[in-house]
Amino acid sequence: MTDSVADLVRLRGVEADDIPTLHRFQLSPEANWMAAFTAEGWEDLDVFTSFWTRLLANDAIGKRAILYRDELAGSILQFEQFEKPSLSYWLGQEFWGKGVMTRALQLYLEQTADRPLYARVAKDNVGSLRVLEKCGFRIIGEDVGFAHARESDVEEFILELPETV
Ligand SMILES: CC(C)(COP(=O)(O)OP(=O)(O)OC[C@H]1O[C@@H](n2cnc3c(N)ncnc32)[C@H](O)[C@@H]1OP(=O)(O)O)[C@@H](O)C(=O)NCCC(=O)NCCS
Repeated sequence: MTDSVADLVRLRGVEADDIPTLHRFQLSPEANWMAAFTAEGWEDLDVFTSFWTRLLANDAIGKRAILYRDELAGSILQFEQFEKPSLSYWLGQEFWGKGVMTRALQLYLEQTADRPLYARVAKDNVGSLRVLEKCGFRIIGEDVGFAHARESDVEEFILELPETV
């Protein structure tokens, strides 16, 4: 038996039954501060559930559940943002610091041929920036926008995973 994170992380489709657990992950104040660019109302389970129900019905949006030791640990989304195919992800706080997100994103990128891909990250979200850079993304620009979770303007980096890394 091995306990390498590479062997413990898997991806699968997101199911409606996952939504309450994803909502619990969403409630972490630390996670909200890190991510910064969250949507208004997600702290309400009904609002979050109707958002995810629309996502699940929309084939144009990529969504994968992250499993760690077969337990739901988070999610990855791919959607159009500023007319570019973009990624976002969220990991339950109890799963942080084990290399789970790096492995999950590596798996996602192995399973999708879409390139280039883009992501935006608050400049001080060091963990997310590191995950993206470990997976081959590079900073190509910056922006500033209103971040609901901080109720203020926040500077962010724009990252790209090019056609070939
Ligand atoms: C950001 C997040 C995805 C990181 O997930 P994770 O599984 O803990 O990340 P990993 O364990 O794969 O860590 C990857 C690297 O980032 C570093 N890192 C992770 N979290 C960090 C933090 N809070 N501060 C500094 N470095 C951090 C790790 O040390 C590791 O670096 P190394 O390989 O050089 O040692 C997770 O904290 C999260 O979901 N946060 C809330 C939501 C969010 O910010 N989503 C992204 C929005 S852009």
